[in-house]
Amino acid sequence: MKNGQIWQDIDGNDIQAHGGCIIKHGDTYYWYGEHKGGDNKIARFVTGQEVSRVDVIGVACYTSKDLLNWKYEGLVLESEKEDIASPIHTSQVLERPKVIYNEKNNNFVLWMHIDRPDYSYAGVGIAVSDSPLGPFKFLGAKVPNKQDSRDMTVYKDKDGTAYLFHSSNRNKTMNIARLNEDYTDVDGSFSSVLEDQEREAPALFYHDGMYYMVTSGCTSWDPNAALFAICPHIVGKWKLIDNPCDGKYARQTFFGQSSYIFEAEGKFYLMLDHWKPDNLKKSGYSILPIEITSDNCLIIPWQDEWLGI
Ligand code: DGJ
Repeated sequence: MKNGQIWQDIDGNDIQAHGGCIIKHGDTYYWYGEHKGGDNKIARFVTGQEVSRVDVIGVACYTSKDLLNWKYEGLVLESEKEDIASPIHTSQVLERPKVIYNEKNNNFVLWMHIDRPDYSYAGVGIAVSDSPLGPFKFLGAKVPNKQDSRDMTVYKDKDGTAYLFHSSNRNKTMNIARLNEDYTDVDGSFSSVLEDQEREAPALFYHDGMYYMVTSGCTSWDPNAALFAICPHIVGKWKLIDNPCDGKYARQTFFGQSSYIFEAEGKFYLMLDHWKPDNLKKSGYSILPIEITSDNCLIIPWQDEWLGI
C-alpha cells in the first residue's frame, strides 16, 4: 500500500475510514473511521472561513489479521437521515471516531467529535456496542465538562482508567478529561495542558515510563508541522519537544495529519490522514513506524510503502 494515497480493501473499493483508529481484539485488528464517501460541499467556520465537508454517512469498520488486507464490515454507526435535530444527522459533523474496549462491561465504547457544519457546537458523541462489529447504539452528544471540544481521541491507561483528550478553549489548549468506569461519560475531573500551543489531532502512546502525544497545528485540512509532547504521568505537565518527522517534507508531516497511534507486536505506528480538501473521499492514508530514542525523543521517517507486520 503506497503511503499518502487512498487505499483499497480486499474487494478493491476505496477504504473509507478517515480520522480513524486501529485497535486489536483477539487476533483481529479493527480499523474504525469516518466514511467520507459523499460529494464535497462548502460550509463556513464560525470565523467566516470557508471549509469543505461531506455529509455524515457514519462510522465504517474494516478488519484485518495483517494490517494490510482489510475487509469492509459495513457501517457500525449510521447517520440519522430523518430527524434533523439528531446530533448525527447527515447535515452535521462526525469526525475522529475512536473505540476503546471496556473490560468491566465487556463492551466497546465509541467516542467521536460531534459538531454543527460551522463547528460552533464543539462537542463529543458516545456510542456503545457489545460487539466490535457493531451496531453501536448512540447514547447522545454533549459538551464535556462544559468545555468546548473539537479534535479528540480517547486513551485507555495501563490501570484501565480512560481519558478524553480534546482540543479546547477554541483550540488553544488540550484538555484531558477522565472518563467514568463505563467509559460512557466524563467523570468531572479534567485539566488543561499545552496551554496557548494551539494543537489538534492528538494521538497517544505509553512506553517505558513515558507518555507521548503527537499533535498537529490548527490549519483546517492543510498540512503543518507535527509536534510531540512528553509527560511521565498521563495527567501532568506535558512538555512540547519537537517535530518527530524526519526527512523531506517533515515540516508538512509528509502532507499528512496525525489520527492515531497503535501498537502491533511491540512496536508503535502513527496513522496519518492525507486530506484532499477538493475531494475529501479520496483523502489518503499512511502508517509509519515510530522510533523511540533512549532520551525520550521520537523519530518518524517517511516510508513510501506500508508493508503491514
Ligand atoms: C482539522 C481537523 O483535524 C479535522 O478533523 C477537521 O476538523 C478539519 N480541521 C476541518 O477543517
